[in-house]
Amino acid sequence: MDIQRTIIEPHGGKLINRELAGIDREEYLEKCKSLSSLTISKWIISDMEMISNGGFSPLIGFMGEKDYQSVLKYMHLEHGLPWTLPVTLPVTKEEAKSINAGDEVALYSDEGELCGVIQVEEMFEYDKLEEAKLVYKTMDDNHPGVKKLFEQGDIYIAGSIFLVNRPSHKPFEEFYMSPNETRKMFNDLGWSTVVGFQTRNPVHRAHEYLQKTALETVDGLLLNPLVGETKKDDIPAEIRMESYKILLKYYYPSDRVRLAIYTAAMRYAGPREAVFHALVRKNYGCTHFIVGRDHAGVGNYYGTYDAQEIFSQFDPNKIGIKPLFFEHSFYCKKCMNMASLKTCPHSADDRFILSGTKVREMLHEGLTPPPEFTRPEVAEVLIMKKK
Ligand code: ADX
Repeated sequence: MDIQRTIIEPHGGKLINRELAGIDREEYLEKCKSLSSLTISKWIISDMEMISNGGFSPLIGFMGEKDYQSVLKYMHLEHGLPWTLPVTLPVTKEEAKSINAGDEVALYSDEGELCGVIQVEEMFEYDKLEEAKLVYKTMDDNHPGVKKLFEQGDIYIAGSIFLVNRPSHKPFEEFYMSPNETRKMFNDLGWSTVVGFQTRNPVHRAHEYLQKTALETVDGLLLNPLVGETKKDDIPAEIRMESYKILLKYYYPSDRVRLAIYTAAMRYAGPREAVFHALVRKNYGCTHFIVGRDHAGVGNYYGTYDAQEIFSQFDPNKIGIKPLFFEHSFYCKKCMNMASLKTCPHSADDRFILSGTKVREMLHEGLTPPPEFTRPEVAEVLIMKKK
């Protein structure tokens, strides 16, 4: 007999589904032929997918001006739910000339594949400097998120969307799961508490330490690596996925971990993105979410623990998912173990701290990162794939 466990409520209470199927989809496939069209970027396509599969619940489309302003200034949607990042559809002034509120517009990838439809409710100009300052805390266009923002069109078109064709996730299609599917999976596995882990890097020993510490107190772990757009010098998702599979095979109890891809783009918005990541993982059915040092950070734009401190600005009941905060962790030669300042009494000289950048440099030169930093099996995959 199927047992239905209590699973955490999605953000806003209802899991959104805007993915067309069956006869509705057939209808739209036909209708799109006569609609005006727009070409959208990979980033926007991934946002469309996340809206339509419920990952971005309660959003049902791209934000209108009221929600946008409210998110920028108060980190809440107009009607009071926490939400920290704008989810918007930018177009150029030229493109905007042929679009009007009330139109339905078909949205295509730059390879000409139909993605979905937006029912345009509103179009508005916005202030890029203000968005950069509030969302990314910098106006420096060396920041990858700010750079993108400055390069995009000057008008936002807003309105509800439908997904007609789900984007391909080759070569890791088998690891794609919608929030509905992860929720069902957690229920079937008998997990009442699930910790979600976001990463855009190969899992190193510090990540493993965080995950396993959390696993001591919850039923299961959802390793949920981001495979959407990242900046060029991040390790590509194809390589990372291989490293996750090998790590899980050798070092994790198979009945307590599941690997599923998180298909959204990386914003590098530090603290605001940490809250966003947590809310999205709540939609996937996670009850807990790991936030370590400089979560979703890049360069030196954010303080080491900004991404943890930001949570104190919210009503925990409205956030719903429980953030698990971790100190900067490292391998200590004297402890002969992973540790953090909370648990290790030894001096800085005893600690093995390698930055992600340093590891990327080592890999680039064909050098194997040491076992104190990366499991040898993972290092082997990373080195091999690099060749
Ligand atoms: S990111 O998506 O947050 O940019 P990253 O792979 O760098 O991905 O980190 C994944 C998670 O592990 C984040 O919550 C981050 O704060 C945490 N983390 C990474 N390295 C460490 C570390 N050495 N100590 C503590 N937390 C860490």
